[in-house]
Amino acid sequence: MRTPLIVANWKMNKSLKDAEQYGQELLPLLADHSGVEVVVCPPFTSLTVMSRIFAGSKIKLGAQNLFWEMKGAYTGEISPAMLVDAGCTYVILGHSERRQIMGENDTIINRKVRAALDAELIPILCVGETLQERENNRAREVVKEQLTRDLKNITFAPQGLVIAYEPVWAIGTGVNASSDDAQEMIGFIRSYLAKIYDRELANSVRILYGGSVNEENIAEFMGEVDVDGALVGGASLQPNSFAGIVRFK
Ligand code: PGA
Repeated sequence: MRTPLIVANWKMNKSLKDAEQYGQELLPLLADHSGVEVVVCPPFTSLTVMSRIFAGSKIKLGAQNLFWEMKGAYTGEISPAMLVDAGCTYVILGHSERRQIMGENDTIINRKVRAALDAELIPILCVGETLQERENNRAREVVKEQLTRDLKNITFAPQGLVIAYEPVWAIGTGVNASSDDAQEMIGFIRSYLAKIYDRELANSVRILYGGSVNEENIAEFMGEVDVDGALVGGASLQPNSFAGIVRFK
């Protein structure tokens, strides 16, 4: 059984004070909710405070990036060990904003996935095509290439890695993919994992959809057989709307 997983990606938003307030408001909203795993990924600066706020609750903490070395002369970087120390269980890797704005390529992402796994962090590996790639009928090919390169020579336990299918054109645009399109691609990702690993692993790995998910459309995505949850940006910034997504049923 794959436990549904809903992940908040705050991106570069919220002061410490705003983060604390969010945490205090979110806790009671989800206190009696079960059956869905919830992860909040704040910026690095708010990790420690959020870890204290969520301690004793079922809400887990994730980071939005890491560097692949454990320590050393890497000015401005944050190591996997530091994230574990700050209370993280998860880390988002390969997000399209990092691929496009920060120029992260698949070689870099592969190193990061490996480093996360070595530190026993669960990578949430993001893949997805651009609008142009979709219009040129290259969506599957692009996602397949990303998976092949990002997971090259990497083995993981079924619960040890999460994949997020995030079509780039749906991120932050208010134009979500249809649940049919999400199912089609996520089903394809699962069958590709069965090919490069094995069917048992592929059936156990959680694969999320991301891109303009909100309270109104979440139930439709969750109704698809292969969609195990969502990676939520904009709609995760308010505790009420994020809790509404978590309580999709
Ligand atoms: P969005 O972002 O929900 O604002 O579209 C999703 C993401 O980038 O993970």
